[in-house]
Amino acid sequence: MTVDRTTPAVAEAERWTAHNYHPLPVVVAEADGAWVTDVDGRRYLDCLAGYSALNFGHRHPAIVDAAHRQLDRVTLTSRAFLHDQFGPFCHALAELCRMDRVLPMNSGAEAVETAIKVARKWGYRVKGVPAGQASIVVAAGNFHGRTTTIVSFSTDPEARDDYGPYTPGFRVVPYGDLAALRAAVDETTVAVLIEPIQGEAGVLVPPAGYLPGVRQLCTEANVLFVADEIQSGLGRTGSTFACDLEGVAPDVYVLGKALGGGIVPVSAVVSTLDVLGVMHPGNHGSTFGGNPLAAAVGREVVRMLQTGEIQERARMLGQSLASRLDKLVGRGVVAVRTRGLWAGIDLDPALMTGRELCERMLTRGVLVKDTHGSTVRLAPPLVIDDADLAWMTDQIEAVVTVA
Ligand SMILES: Cc1ncc(COP(=O)(O)O)c(C=O)c1O
Repeated sequence: MTVDRTTPAVAEAERWTAHNYHPLPVVVAEADGAWVTDVDGRRYLDCLAGYSALNFGHRHPAIVDAAHRQLDRVTLTSRAFLHDQFGPFCHALAELCRMDRVLPMNSGAEAVETAIKVARKWGYRVKGVPAGQASIVVAAGNFHGRTTTIVSFSTDPEARDDYGPYTPGFRVVPYGDLAALRAAVDETTVAVLIEPIQGEAGVLVPPAGYLPGVRQLCTEANVLFVADEIQSGLGRTGSTFACDLEGVAPDVYVLGKALGGGIVPVSAVVSTLDVLGVMHPGNHGSTFGGNPLAAAVGREVVRMLQTGEIQERARMLGQSLASRLDKLVGRGVVAVRTRGLWAGIDLDPALMTGRELCERMLTRGVLVKDTHGSTVRLAPPLVIDDADLAWMTDQIEAVVTVA
């Protein structure tokens, strides 16, 4: 008789944890590259990749090696002291972004909070916005994290409801609508904060010309263009940043997820001296931000991105993913949006919900995640190979066409 280790593991988690997530009933025990193995020895192709935190796959040997080496040297100093990974990490990351200052944090939400603080301070100290008046324009459908300030400008009731009183100072406009953005910007506006592609909203790609339009508007109005590339950045779309696809350079990059190489949380705000120069000792900080282990891992991630190989791989495999998924449109799938190895698939709502598709994919050995309603997001590790990608799309085809 085979022992079922999954059921008791699911029950224990259900019993002892807050139910702020609704995980699929799979209990991962090990992982390697694009594949994970559960407690009962079943293998699954991981096509969520930690919401892009695992762009380099599970336990990439070079990143694991960098972490091991650092574990044997020094892991934490706090920012009260410098350490020998800090300068090199920030230097390399700034160069990757073609910027000149880095403010490292840990989680993505912390980095977004940091960018908000920096933008407001820049507004008061550099732009000359009257005290307490700063406004930031954001887009409907955004996802920038879970802190009280960030959910204050979320348009998703599940993320926002019951967490008031909310932080003021944000104006929400429709995503992709330049005219609405222009109308919302005034002399109090310090920043436009947007995702160049909205990940949680279902890999929503704005209309061509939108990002260059945002760039132009921000320049003309003396407003910071803050690009949250936490999910879209670091190779996912086939370029280092999603902004690159439109030939646009923001004033501030907000980075996270893949920067930690799938090992530790590493995030950062990257910008110019003009912007990050507003921060002085005591203004902001985090005990773990830029710690030696995080910096060593982040440094290896940046080194891998500097070669451009992983971006090219995502671009090439992305073409193959797009051509396979496009064939499903009209066959259980209503629409597909693909950028690099990132895809949003809108299922025919009459067929099944996104959650149902994910559950059926699980039984076929593929891990995927729905976003909202009938939309499913695919974000396989960029180290996946074409045969696995083809097999995965075959599984989607089987589920949507048999249903
Ligand atoms: C675009 C974007 N910003 C911010 C965040 C928040 O990151 P974290 O969960 O690390 O706080 C996410 C997470 O999904 C994200 O996709």
